[in-house]
Amino acid sequence: MFIPQFLTQKVGLLDTPVASVVYDAANATPGSALGRFPQRIDLLNTAAQHFNHKLYWACMTRHPESMPAGLETRLEEEFGSIDEFKAEWERIALAHFGSGWIWLVEHEGELKIITTNNGETPVSTVDMFPCMCMDLWEHAWYADYENRKSEYVKGWWSVVDWDVIWDNVMAAQASASCTVCS
Ligand SMILES: [Fe+2]
Repeated sequence: MFIPQFLTQKVGLLDTPVASVVYDAANATPGSALGRFPQRIDLLNTAAQHFNHKLYWACMTRHPESMPAGLETRLEEEFGSIDEFKAEWERIALAHFGSGWIWLVEHEGELKIITTNNGETPVSTVDMFPCMCMDLWEHAWYADYENRKSEYVKGWWSVVDWDVIWDNVMAAQASASCTVCS
């Protein structure tokens, strides 16, 4: 998925990292050039879905390995145990109605599981740092699982690239950019 150049060029965001395009488009003040840009919402939606999918692909691997010890410790601190973390992720993913995304985010020093609707993304929120996401749009799972969404959600654990998630958690702790933010 690409952001059409005519959109970014018009508002001076050509060659800007996609996460920054999302943030700027979401938080443009009404009087600014970007705030007055008639296609600002088109730009926001396209850039957000670009970013969301970029992170989604980055979170998956064909060759999953065990979870880094540091990440295991962080998740145990936040959620009690890895099993509880996974159960909470699955519960929230299955409870989400309609199109959207589920995220592991770092916010104010804590790891949290949140969902967003449609193309909304935590990148548009200051201090909300995305570490892992999974696509909850029906197109992500219906072709393979039909109406068995729970199989898609539970199958996530067999493809997660825990090294990438840990890199993002550590970057969040250091207030740096996530693996696909720049
Ligand atoms: Fe998708």
